[in-house]
Amino acid sequence: MGLSPLSLSFFLFLFHFHSTLSSSSPPPLCAHHQSLSLLQFKQSFSILTTPREDQYPKTESWKEGTDCCFWDGVTCDLQTGLVTGLDLSSSMLYGTLHSNNSLFSLHHLRKLDLSSNYFTLHMSSRFDQLSNLTHLNLSSSQFEGQVPSEIAHLSKLVSLDLSGNSFASLESISFDKIVRNLTKLRELDLSYADMSLVVPDSLMNLSSSLSSLRLNNCGLQGKIPSSMGKLKHLRYLDLGWNNLTGSIPYDFEQLTELVSLDLSRNTHLSPEPVSLYKIVQNLTKLRELALGYVDMSLVAPNSLMNLSFFVISFPW
Ligand SMILES: *[C@@H]1O[C@H](CO)[C@@H](O)[C@H](O)[C@H]1NC(C)=O
Ligand SMILES: *[C@@H]1O[C@H](CO)[C@@H](O)[C@H](O)[C@H]1NC(C)=O
Ligand SMILES: *[C@@H]1O[C@H](CO)[C@@H](O)[C@H](O)[C@H]1NC(C)=O
Ligand SMILES: *[C@@H]1O[C@H](CO)[C@@H](O)[C@H](O)[C@H]1NC(C)=O
Ligand SMILES: *[C@@H]1O[C@H](CO)[C@@H](O)[C@H](O)[C@H]1NC(C)=O
Ligand SMILES: *[C@@H]1O[C@H](CO)[C@@H](O)[C@H](O)[C@H]1NC(C)=O
Ligand SMILES: *[C@@H]1O[C@H](CO)[C@@H](O)[C@H](O)[C@H]1NC(C)=O
Ligand SMILES: *[C@@H]1O[C@H](CO)[C@@H](O)[C@H](O)[C@H]1NC(C)=O
Repeated sequence: MGLSPLSLSFFLFLFHFHSTLSSSSPPPLCAHHQSLSLLQFKQSFSILTTPREDQYPKTESWKEGTDCCFWDGVTCDLQTGLVTGLDLSSSMLYGTLHSNNSLFSLHHLRKLDLSSNYFTLHMSSRFDQLSNLTHLNLSSSQFEGQVPSEIAHLSKLVSLDLSGNSFASLESISFDKIVRNLTKLRELDLSYADMSLVVPDSLMNLSSSLSSLRLNNCGLQGKIPSSMGKLKHLRYLDLGWNNLTGSIPYDFEQLTELVSLDLSRNTHLSPEPVSLYKIVQNLTKLRELALGYVDMSLVAPNSLMNLSFFVISFPW
């Protein structure tokens, strides 16, 4: 049975419709101006050509005319096509991050990871323009100069990692601003930042929602604040390799969520038997306790014998 003229034309129409659909690619998701900003960002850095094994030049896949939402390290909002995440960790990027860098025009960024690259930060950066950031990771990227003071404006930050850089000594006032304005912080890592001018007591003004605080090798001087117990949600506390003195405050017994506590290499820290007893008795979730090179002269050598958890470094 042959096709009637009507059904034939319907068939042809369907065929035509189908072929137009499959020959044209979907419109790019990426907003055009975002694409331009990213390409300008790419052009402002060189790629270091002697990679380590764990490094990979993500920006090499960034090509004009292709959809930036599919570029390596880029995350977009699927509704708007705006760039909300940039993960460029270990991407062999080399150069200076100037305040006029197009990176600072990506106002919709929520997560930015520039860790493990080779940047120099210009004195005036514009991180304050990225006020939507919830996660900022600038760790181990050879940043020098002052810790960018505009970071104190990023009041939505939940996670801030500035560890492993060569920042100039952090002023007490700058730290206090960061501490007081970032009320949503859950993770803070400033390890290897020089905090010798910061009074340890200012740690008490940190957000009480903090779950991880890492201040390893920061040159902190003086006593551990006596009301650290306020930071009730702490799970990871690393104060190792500083110059903290005195004992471990009794109110550590309130840090009942602690999983890991590192106080090692504070050679003038001298825990009393009562403090250690409270840690052992009350911190039932503790799995790691580092007390290497702490002054244990007040404590009987067998008092840590009954620990049920893993001690990463013994004081003796
Ligand atoms: C950004 O600023 C630096 C230093 O002031 C300058 O060398 C560079 O040309 C500027 N770049 C653009 C795109 O304006
Ligand atoms: C933050 O992101 C929202 C939603 O993407 C946007 O409407 C707003 O303009 C952004 N804020 C700034 C300061 O750009
Ligand atoms: C920041 O990046 C480094 C290196 O990529 C990673 O080891 C670290 O866990 C990150 N920090 C946070 C707070 O996620
Ligand atoms: C705290 O953040 C707000 C914006 O969220 C800003 O206006 C204010 O200047 C910041 N304070 C400091 C001390 O940076
Ligand atoms: C903590 O913050 C309060 C105000 O919120 C301030 O008066 C006090 O000096 C701060 N403490 C430290 C040790 O910085
Ligand atoms: C550490 O603190 C002690 C006691 O306050 C002091 O004598 C010593 O010089 C400090 N060490 C360093 C390296 O700052
Ligand atoms: C710590 O443990 C002791 C003995 O088990 C208990 O009496 C005390 O209330 C506990 N403290 C806290 C803050 O949980
Ligand atoms: C360790 O546990 C044993 C048996 O439960 C007990 O006899 C001993 O007193 C405990 N030692 C210390 C230092 O708490």
